[in-house]
Amino acid sequence: MLGNATPAFRFLGLQIYAFLCLRFTMIIGLLNQKGGVGKTTLSLNLAAHYAATLGKRVLLVDADPQGSAQAWSNAREEPPLFPVIGMAKPSLHRDLPDMAKDYDVTVIDGAPRVSELGRAAILASDFVLIPVQPSPFDVWATDEIVRLIQEAQQFKPDIRAAFAINRRIVNTAIGRDVMEAFAGLPFPVLPQVIGQRVIFAETAARGLTVAEAAPKSEAAREIAALANAILNPSEGSLS
Ligand SMILES: Nc1ncnc2c1ncn2[C@@H]1O[C@H](COP(=O)(O)OP(=O)(O)OP(=O)(O)O)[C@@H](O)[C@H]1O
Ligand SMILES: [Mg+2]
Repeated sequence: MLGNATPAFRFLGLQIYAFLCLRFTMIIGLLNQKGGVGKTTLSLNLAAHYAATLGKRVLLVDADPQGSAQAWSNAREEPPLFPVIGMAKPSLHRDLPDMAKDYDVTVIDGAPRVSELGRAAILASDFVLIPVQPSPFDVWATDEIVRLIQEAQQFKPDIRAAFAINRRIVNTAIGRDVMEAFAGLPFPVLPQVIGQRVIFAETAARGLTVAEAAPKSEAAREIAALANAILNPSEGSLS
């Protein structure tokens, strides 16, 4: 009896596992009203890690009227790792879910400054990653995105958010003044910091990412750590 039941249970287990895998979708918004903090750089590199290294179905949404992610895609000579679609619209949160359900991970590259677009991108996201450079001025300048996220959480309480430090000068510690500026903010700072590395600009210019061009580099390792922390908050990296 048990001999018959075991394969049946195993089959049921596989069915449940397949169902959960099929249902896993996550929308990650990279947002900060401040310009030039690394939203596009991290969006493309995280998306490439999910697609090329983890084999996930990835969609990249360029929600910035500047169209930087689309320009990156146009500069690319290799076959695409993931589709890049332009959607710099205040209706993003209404239009995106239907499209995103066909992908495991959707990454939104957000626009600086325009609150209307920021609001829509936040509402479309399950998780908002706020790239910030390690300077107190940059941390203070996050007050607007923090306010927009808190407003959005009143409509959609399960939106999570965290800061990602980008462009740390290699071999330097994050200053105490920077950590003090973060201390008053309502979202955690991820310990997976991204260093200041020329390879990010060099690869972007060729429509590439660090995961493809230099998979064994320190930059690729840092991106992988950040990407995994976002997907696996239960592993203790997000507070
Ligand atoms: N970790 C890094 N190391 C070195 N250069 C970086 C890093 N992150 C970003 N940059 C560079 O900083 C500049 C701004 O980055 P990026 O375009 O990704 O920022 P952004 O937040 O998307 O800007 P915008 O607000 O204009 O959309 C680019 O030249 C990029 O190559
Ligand atoms: Mg950008």
